[in-house]
Amino acid sequence: MEGDDVAYLEAAATVDERAHSAAGDAAFRAALADAGGDGGVRVLEAGAGTCGVLRRLLAADALPAGEWVAVDTDERVLSAGRHRLAAAARAAGRGVETEGSTTTLRSPDGGALRVRFRIADVRTVAAEGPFDGVVARSFADLLAPDDVLALLRTAAPDGWYHLPLTFDGATRFAPSHPVDDGVVDAFHGTMRERGRAATLLAGRFAEAGTPPAVDERADWVVEGDGDGGYPADEATFLRTVLDTVVASVRESGAVADATLADWAETREDQLDRGALGYVAENRDLFGRVP
Ligand SMILES: C[S@@+](CC[C@H](N)C(=O)[O-])C[C@H]1O[C@@H](n2cnc3c(N)ncnc32)[C@H](O)[C@@H]1O
Repeated sequence: MEGDDVAYLEAAATVDERAHSAAGDAAFRAALADAGGDGGVRVLEAGAGTCGVLRRLLAADALPAGEWVAVDTDERVLSAGRHRLAAAARAAGRGVETEGSTTTLRSPDGGALRVRFRIADVRTVAAEGPFDGVVARSFADLLAPDDVLALLRTAAPDGWYHLPLTFDGATRFAPSHPVDDGVVDAFHGTMRERGRAATLLAGRFAEAGTPPAVDERADWVVEGDGDGGYPADEATFLRTVLDTVVASVRESGAVADATLADWAETREDQLDRGALGYVAENRDLFGRVP
């Protein structure tokens, strides 16, 4: 993404919240409640970012007991996530203890979740399995499908995966602009074969004999608030998306500079007026690891 990744991930929170599917949430929370013996559940989170997944579980009073390994290559975002998670847990009346790279969150009933923060490529951490489950939100399109499958297999043979908000290769801006198709096709081209990540992965799970138990649309949808702005901090989210599309298309060289500049200027003007709409097609996948 172009710009400040912490600000972008935080600005995405309300967009993410609307996108999550009820079926994906229910399956994920049931697996967390179900798994683990006396020691609780052991979860690997790939690309944990600013801990949005853990903070959603905390807000829903659905944090499990056990161990959660939150991995990200970006020290700055993971550190911001660690601080925000601890602050949210304290505000929710949880006990919070910090030791080294582990933060323990204690619930009033005595259950404890040890969150271990790791700055690393998650593909190396997966070898430290087995885990009961792997969760990765808005992440699976960043790796080749074979790498995602290898990562999930750290939870085989009886484990689960949850891949919420997995990009599925379609981006739309509104109102329409005459060169939208060229710009958006060039943007998707920069993702090579990974753009339709949800479709590719669901197909691979089905081929292996275990189609996803949950496969639901979970689109990001942003529109103006009708008063010249956007809800919450969604203007920041949209600006980062726009800057990222323009930078990647410019680098690809697939659209003439003048055409791209004209498109970007029109879109920025619409964004400034709260008149730009955006949809990214995502899916929530949940299932047994093949
Ligand atoms: C789009 S963000 C999603 C963050 C978070 N899951 C959320 O939904 O708010 C993707 C995150 O994956 C991290 N990332 C990318 N490749 C990674 C890798 N190979 N191993 C670990 N983290 C990675 C990035 O640094 C970034 O924080």
